[in-house]
Amino acid sequence: MAVKIGEHIDLGKFPLLLAPMEDVSDPPFRYVCKQNGVDMMYTEFISSEGLIRDAAKSKQKLDIFEYERPIGIQIFGSDIESMRQSAEICTLAHPDLIDINYGCPVKNVACRGAGASLLQDIDKMVAMTKAVVDATTLPVTVKTRLGWDDNTKNVYEVAERLQDVGIKALSIHGRTRAQMYKGQADWRMIRDVKRNPRIQIPIFGNGDVDSVEKAAAWRMEYEVDGIMIGRASIGYPWIFREIKHFFETGEHLEGPTIDERVEVCKTHLIKSIEWKGDKTGIFEMRRHYANYFKGIPNFKEYRTKLVGLGDHNEILEVLEEIKERFKMHTRTRSSIYR
Ligand SMILES: Cc1cc2nc3c(=O)[nH]c(=O)nc-3n(C[C@H](O)[C@H](O)[C@H](O)COP(=O)(O)O)c2cc1C
Repeated sequence: MAVKIGEHIDLGKFPLLLAPMEDVSDPPFRYVCKQNGVDMMYTEFISSEGLIRDAAKSKQKLDIFEYERPIGIQIFGSDIESMRQSAEICTLAHPDLIDINYGCPVKNVACRGAGASLLQDIDKMVAMTKAVVDATTLPVTVKTRLGWDDNTKNVYEVAERLQDVGIKALSIHGRTRAQMYKGQADWRMIRDVKRNPRIQIPIFGNGDVDSVEKAAAWRMEYEVDGIMIGRASIGYPWIFREIKHFFETGEHLEGPTIDERVEVCKTHLIKSIEWKGDKTGIFEMRRHYANYFKGIPNFKEYRTKLVGLGDHNEILEVLEEIKERFKMHTRTRSSIYR
């Protein structure tokens, strides 16, 4: 049966979602993920205060493109009225849905009463969610964690109460706030939520999926409606097509050739320049090169070259050189190469 968010967003049988990631899930990166089969994507998180103040950085994150659909804009904040207003602003940007971030653990978000901090005040979280739901005609979804810490793993209650005020899907990262990104994600409570007979909305599992094998095993073991992938897609957007191919055929797709790696990296660079301009586009792309060529021995020299160049034609030339130099490099799949 197809997974649906609200009445109109049909995600097919078992969707793969690109996790919202600050400084990563921007339009250039989303472009290459979309090319590689992701079913649904989110923007980076956007500060509700920033949106209201009309801050350029926040406003730029509202840029979404037709080919990206279905796409959600993710917002965070600590003030209910600001969240309500920013839901109105986001609605005007015409995403397919609005997602609320109740999962961010980093200090300057969670310690200012936003993100995962709302896991300590469920009443406020519920009121905030209701305000956002009431402020928009779009479906509202939520992304959160298991709880604040080991003593307060309250996602079971959170799921029920947020469903009651109208959210249309819930993504759960199998860690607490206290864990930040340490240890291993534990999906058992995600399964508990999914098994709750009161829960009707799709439940997406998130945390540590980095291979076809894990996606296949955890799909069965934890009974989720879809999987959200973050870090493993950075520099490796092929993970989406590899997992999808396996689910559709039961067979493993080979990993990308060196030519494919170069071509996708180039596309990412070109889109980056198109969207951010030459200077910022080239600068912000620097963080991605090592990821695109991870696992390739003796790549360092080329990475140093790539991050040292400021002219996009020269960068494109070096990327072509990489094809030649590493053409004997064999294909690798996500699980093997990570
Ligand atoms: C660089 C980075 C930025 C992130 N930014 C966001 C964000 O803006 N909003 C959000 O809900 N989660 C954010 N996260 C958390 C991810 O969405 C995801 O929940 C987490 O990385 C676990 O999934 P993974 O193991 O597949 O990466 C971020 C994670 C990383 C690594």
